[in-house]
Amino acid sequence: MENKDIKIAVIGAGSVGSTIAYTLVMKNLAAEVILVDINEAKEEGEVMDINDALSFVETGKIRGGSYQDAATADVIVITAGLPQKSGDQSRLELVNKNKEILKSIFDQIKPLNPEVKIVVVSNPVDIMTYYAQEFSGLPRNQVFGTGTSLDTSRLRTEIALALDINVQSVDGFVLGEHGESEFVAWSTVSVGGVLIKDKLGSDKLDEIAKKVRDDAKSIIDAVTTDIIESVLLDQNKVLPISSRIEDWNGVSGVCLGVPAVVGKEGVKSIWSLELNDEEKEKLKLSAEKIRGYL
Ligand SMILES: NC(=O)c1ccc[n+]([C@@H]2O[C@H](COP(=O)([O-])OP(=O)(O)OC[C@H]3O[C@@H](n4cnc5c(N)ncnc54)[C@H](O)[C@@H]3O)[C@@H](O)[C@H]2O)c1
Repeated sequence: MENKDIKIAVIGAGSVGSTIAYTLVMKNLAAEVILVDINEAKEEGEVMDINDALSFVETGKIRGGSYQDAATADVIVITAGLPQKSGDQSRLELVNKNKEILKSIFDQIKPLNPEVKIVVVSNPVDIMTYYAQEFSGLPRNQVFGTGTSLDTSRLRTEIALALDINVQSVDGFVLGEHGESEFVAWSTVSVGGVLIKDKLGSDKLDEIAKKVRDDAKSIIDAVTTDIIESVLLDQNKVLPISSRIEDWNGVSGVCLGVPAVVGKEGVKSIWSLELNDEEKEKLKLSAEKIRGYL
């Protein structure tokens, strides 16, 4: 499929949705990007701003659209919802509110293109991905979330800085919930075939893991575009997206950040990877935490 045939819908024109739309248009990945928001003035303003920024470069097109437009898209990115606050009570309220928003979106995007790939960004992303699968009724390979992609990209940057190495030479993953119970799977983190846990002291590893979890800097637009590019260009990248797993390192039935092969069918497979016992325990705790909200 050439990009002239591709339509991407971004639902939610807030700060996350509009920067994702802008990055997608700049990368010319689709013939058309449509931005849909319940707040029409906001949607219109963001589309105008992006169009202004595009006047002098060769890119795809962007326009505002309706849920009916979104129904025929090849990729739908969900960014609608309230941003996450800290504290447990507010998290439960956030889950319920964003779940309601998600339900109302899928009630309106009908009939859905049966081949569409849904990329969920709204938080809590693992729980929203689970419900997006339920509400859309699509096969699970077609519905996934950004998962721990953002955290993994921060991890790679921190290691590159610590070792003065190009970031593209750093491999490895942050896994589990995108949130407090996420963990760096140090058994997977390497540079040039050398495990980082054998190279840096445990204090440094803890410092990096903490930075990765707490750092507020967000490059969610770059991360989401990378996932979509892997789908549209059938790149088969192994990315730590949120996907519903069955018996992966002993965990089943929830969506959380796991390394998956991402290509034209969406999630082609979950990469089979044996975590060590400590990491399996952390994955289990993360899954239990997520299950508690479902
Ligand atoms: N997964 C990640 O790694 C990651 C990173 C950053 C942000 N996020 C999440 O992305 C989401 C969006 O964040 P933001 O900063 O853009 O928030 P925001 O408040 O700026 O934007 C949310 C937008 O959603 C719109 N909206 C609400 N209900 C809607 C509906 N039914 N249909 C269409 N649009 C609707 C609102 O009008 C608003 O414009 C949040 O849930 C945030 O936590 C996720």
